Formats: sequence, structure tokens, C-alpha cells
Amino acid sequence: MVPDIQQQLADYSATLNNQLAPLLSASKINVPEPLHTAVLYSLQAPGKRLRPYLVERSYALAGGRHYSPHSIAWAVECAHVFTLIHDDLPCMDDAQLRRGQPANHRVFGEAMAVLAGDALLALAFELLARQEWSRNREMTAELAGAIGWSGVIGGQVADLQGERQAPALDLVNYIHQQKTARLIVCALRLGALAADAPVQVFNKLEEYGWALGMAFQITDDLLDETGAPGALGKDTRRDAARAKQTYPAVMGREASIHQGQELIQQATLALADFGPEAEDLRSLAQYIMNRTN
Ligand code: IPE
Ligand code: IPE
Ligand code: MG
Ligand code: MG
Ligand code: MG
Repeated sequence: MVPDIQQQLADYSATLNNQLAPLLSASKINVPEPLHTAVLYSLQAPGKRLRPYLVERSYALAGGRHYSPHSIAWAVECAHVFTLIHDDLPCMDDAQLRRGQPANHRVFGEAMAVLAGDALLALAFELLARQEWSRNREMTAELAGAIGWSGVIGGQVADLQGERQAPALDLVNYIHQQKTARLIVCALRLGALAADAPVQVFNKLEEYGWALGMAFQITDDLLDETGAPGALGKDTRRDAARAKQTYPAVMGREASIHQGQELIQQATLALADFGPEAEDLRSLAQYIMNRTN
């Protein structure tokens, strides 16, 4: 039976959310207001928790058994929320709505939103370093590389510069790989590193991640054009207004959907060597293209 992945993600989110307060208790000493509230405002808002889910499933599929990887899962979510807060700033996408509520800078002001994002990125590394994983050094380098100048931040630079360039497939592929797929791959790699996975398993999970991550951003592009702000919890119809490099801008809707479906097939194929225990990741790949939020 195909697992109901949406239900599974919802159940997982509930479990993950319960872990946050104990995880933060050691580090939130003398945090000034409104920074503390601004960080929690975005971190606790209802996100899909896709990347933490990938950390945990990758850890389990790679044979990890000994520890709970919740702190790694939260580390990746903190890094992700940092990217969301900064992405919404007036100097970036100038968005009003995020996760069904006013964007962080709309409530706390731009300076506090910048600092809340900075704090979340530092918190990500603090959480990652909490537990003594045998491959801690590689894990730290992995997260830094995924977020940094040749990862999400580099992708965001190309995304902004792309607003003044003609739509081009090479460019949109670079942007989507860096700004989105890279952190999704990172989530899978971190889970596999924590489990000390053999290289073949590591490579298959990574292959799944690249295809899933690209399909995820293609769907995000499509949803920006036709999605409902109520369901998405964020602004819509912004990409065309800002002349963003998107898949539909480069190749049209039909071809974008087709490309997304091809990527989902690739993602599913990458999991061929795994048994029924990977069924949820296969369902997740289908859900990524059909999602409405
Ligand atoms: C939004 O990511 C940013 C992109 C990479 C498109 P999500 O769609 O996973 O956002 P949340 O975490 O559910 O809010
Ligand atoms: C941004 O892509 C990906 C990030 C690094 C946050 P988008 O700008 O398309 O993400 P949304 O649509 O605002 O979530
Ligand atoms: Mg953006
Ligand atoms: Mg945006
Ligand atoms: Mg978008």
C-alpha cells in the first residue's frame, strides 16, 4: 500500500515540533527581545518540514539506529528558515506573506529580520555540533557548503541577477540547483553521514535528492503562477512580476510539468535498490509534483 505521505509528514512535524523547546533550552540564555520572538515566529510557523523529514528518513534508510537525528533535522530546518526570512526581505523578493503569516520583516522590521536569519544560521551549526557523530567534521563542511557561496547563497545571487537577464535554461538550472536542490541534497547527505552509510547508499540518496530538489523548485515555480495564496501560505504571481528565471518562463507550463515528471521518475529510479522501507520516499517524490502547498 502506498503510504499517505501527507499524513506521514504531518505526523512527523508534530513529533519534530515537540523536540524544539528542549533542543533550544541550552542555547537561549539571555537572548534579547525581540530577537527571541522573531526567531521563534518563523521557526515555529507551519512549514512542511520536508528537509528535516529527509534527514531522518535518510538516516534510517542508511542503517542509522543508535541515536535520534532530531538535532540534525532541526539544524537543517534552522538553515532553511534563515534562507526564507532573508529571501522575503524588501531587498530580495520583497514578499509579504510566509507560512500563512506576515513575513518576518513585516512584523519585526528589516534589521531584526536580518538578525533573526543570522541567528538561525548560527543556531543551525550549534545544533549540528551538539552530538558527537563520528563524521562530524564532514557534516559541518556539508552544511556550510550547502548554504554558502557555492550553495544556496550563490544560487540566491544568481536568482537576483537573473531578474535582469533573458530566460535561459542553463541559468535556471544553475539557480534551482543551488538555491533549492542543494539544501535538499544536504538533508539527505547529513542523514547518510550520521549513519556512516556506505558510499553506494550515500550516492543513491544523493541522486534521489538532486532529482527531487529540482522537481520541488519546478513545482514551486508552477505554483507561483497558479497556486492560491491561502493554500500556499505565501505570495503568488510574484515571479513573472519580477522577471524571475523560472521553468515556466524558460520553457512554458506544459514542458515544465513534463520535466518535473521526468525528474520524479529519476528520483524513484535512484531508490530502486532499496526495499519497501523506501516506499515513503517514493510517495514523497510523487507528492512533490502534485502538491498544492
Ligand atoms: C520554500 O520551501 C522555499 C523554496 C525552496 C521553494 P518550502 O516550500 O519547503 O517551505 P516551507 O518550509 O514548507 O515553508
Ligand atoms: C527561494 O526560491 C529559495 C530559497 C533559497 C528561499 P523562491 O524565492 O522561489 O522561494 P519562495 O517561492 O519565495 O518560497
Ligand atoms: Mg527568491
Ligand atoms: Mg521568494
Ligand atoms: Mg517561489
